[in-house]
Amino acid sequence: MQKKKEIKILSNNNPIGIFDSGFGGLTVMSAINKVLPSENLIYFGDTAHVPYGTKSQNAILKFSKEIVSFLIKNRVKLIVVACNTASALALPVLEKSLKVPIIGVIAPGARAAIDASKNFRIGIIGTEGTIGSKSYPKAINKLAKAKIYQQACPLLVPLVEEGWIDEEITDRTVKKYIKPLLAKKIDTLVLGCTHYPLLRKTLERNLDKNIILVDSAISTALEVKRILDKKSLLASKNGKKYLKFYVSDNPEKFKKIGRRFFSKNITTIKKIDLVG
Ligand code: DGL
Repeated sequence: MQKKKEIKILSNNNPIGIFDSGFGGLTVMSAINKVLPSENLIYFGDTAHVPYGTKSQNAILKFSKEIVSFLIKNRVKLIVVACNTASALALPVLEKSLKVPIIGVIAPGARAAIDASKNFRIGIIGTEGTIGSKSYPKAINKLAKAKIYQQACPLLVPLVEEGWIDEEITDRTVKKYIKPLLAKKIDTLVLGCTHYPLLRKTLERNLDKNIILVDSAISTALEVKRILDKKSLLASKNGKKYLKFYVSDNPEKFKKIGRRFFSKNITTIKKIDLVG
């Protein structure tokens, strides 16, 4: 593989590329938009292949490579893998060969968990793919010695997408998933899936009051700011700002469901056919 070399021709007003399997990464885009209001942002939601959480590493890697090529063609200056599953299963391969900086949500989430925890007993909830990869325990244990307890919660993504945030069935499902973690006396719970910030209230209702919820969106946005600042690539304040949205299928559904995940109205969405 060719040795990676930083691209120097990118300018400050080139966009940041953000991708996810579908809608969930919009929670990360929202945070980036708040922390870095002058940045141009391009979002790609792989709605033709969602969910990633139940798919194999090979499949996720293939989809992620295609999306990254699309973003590079759009001259992004940095890429954010705004999906926990793709951060766990594709990022370690992608970051070896790319010429632009690429970050995921797991390392910033792990850092935030360590900063939040006092007893170093940390719970992680996520998709089957993220939990099976053990990416969070590995990332956390690189920073500090902690006891990590994981729980895959495959039913939560469909419940959130259905909009059943305050339904009894969601409360009961959450309760059942987190029961084994509560028994381990965790003081911090990492929301290791982009959909779970929408369940914050449901989780808080069912957790002990002293448990801190960690959502990696804000820490990821701060990490983006730190990298761009270090490379002198932050957008100029008076540049023209845009937010662009692309999907691989069903733009109308994306517009409807996306509203729950993104703080602003999503107006123009373009469907793109990615070729392998
Ligand atoms: N975005 C995914 C994640 O954060 C959740 C949805 C999916 O399974 O594709 O892991």
